[in-house]
Amino acid sequence: MTVKTLDKREALHQEAKSLHLLEFWKERADIELVEPRDIVEPHCWKWRDVEPRLRAAADIVPIEECERRALLFCNPGLGGKPYVTNTLFAAFSLYNPGEQAPVHRHTPSASRFIVEGSGGYTVVEGEKCVMHRGDLIITPAGTWHDHGNEGDEQLIWMDVLDVPIIESLNVTHFEFDYQGSSSDASSGHPMGTAYQDVSLPPDHSQRLYGTGGLMPLFAPEKRGAIGHHSPMFVYRWEKTRAALERLADYQGSPYDGVIMEYVNPATGQSVMPAMSFRSQMLRPGEQTLSHRHMSNAVYFCLEGSGYTEIDGTRVEWGRNDVFALPTWKWHRHVNTTNENAFLYSVTDEAAIRKLGLFREERKTESGDIELVIY
Ligand SMILES: [Fe+2]
Ligand SMILES: [Fe+2]
Repeated sequence: MTVKTLDKREALHQEAKSLHLLEFWKERADIELVEPRDIVEPHCWKWRDVEPRLRAAADIVPIEECERRALLFCNPGLGGKPYVTNTLFAAFSLYNPGEQAPVHRHTPSASRFIVEGSGGYTVVEGEKCVMHRGDLIITPAGTWHDHGNEGDEQLIWMDVLDVPIIESLNVTHFEFDYQGSSSDASSGHPMGTAYQDVSLPPDHSQRLYGTGGLMPLFAPEKRGAIGHHSPMFVYRWEKTRAALERLADYQGSPYDGVIMEYVNPATGQSVMPAMSFRSQMLRPGEQTLSHRHMSNAVYFCLEGSGYTEIDGTRVEWGRNDVFALPTWKWHRHVNTTNENAFLYSVTDEAAIRKLGLFREERKTESGDIELVIY
């Protein structure tokens, strides 16, 4: 390139910059990626590290100050952002006996997977959902919800939300002005309250929607302000575990063992538009084959121990550990014990599939690679 051309290029660069324009030929390598960016790390948060900090927070951070007491899983590859992957937000929350979190609603969809304690509950759109270890309770976008601990021990759950997706679309919206059924005696206008009225019978979700393959014809298929999500707000671990154990003699998925997806009982689709929820059972000594897919996931170990090999790195997991699986990384799961191991996971696969972008590569037993595009 001649000196004259170089000068002209530099002039063009300066002019473009001042006009808020970027030269494609300089940015191209950062735009036309051959593979997804390698940003999220396959990190594991050990229960032995998190638990004491969570209990310390329960002592020194009053619920009145934080409203919802949580430690957020912050992926080391994301530069301090409060996200477990670039698409998922996850945390452990702790409530002391008698503590309550006031009612609110928001555009991010939220889920809770119960880790410890009895006597906990979330009220979702007037349904009081009581909690047991391993239950999944959802608070979809636009549903009013408040939480509390009526038990006599500390209550801990794992939250997973689609906050980063909602944030990237810049459609985050929180509301705190719930109005209950009571009204001001003088004006007759509805009054704002901190907690919801419980208007539905106990175990409403399970009674209406909790029998696989059967939907009551009088039950609403949509609940909450926005819809597009499961009308069943509680998925009981007892039932999930029984369903997994019933299939223990099946080969299952070569890549995931015996795995079940929680679904919307009205449609058979994912529970929420952007997130899919799964539980899987790895049988004693089971080693899966390796695959990779265009979806991020966060895992929680409910029972057992083993490891997940992610791009050659061994991520060891045991009871109550949490780990992040980045998109498009080869991975396989291994149960190193002679008991069943149970992993719960949340992925952004539902969102990726809706965009028509889900893609998977599988390694066969002989080591060949098969491309699967859905
Ligand atoms: Fe919330
Ligand atoms: Fe996978």
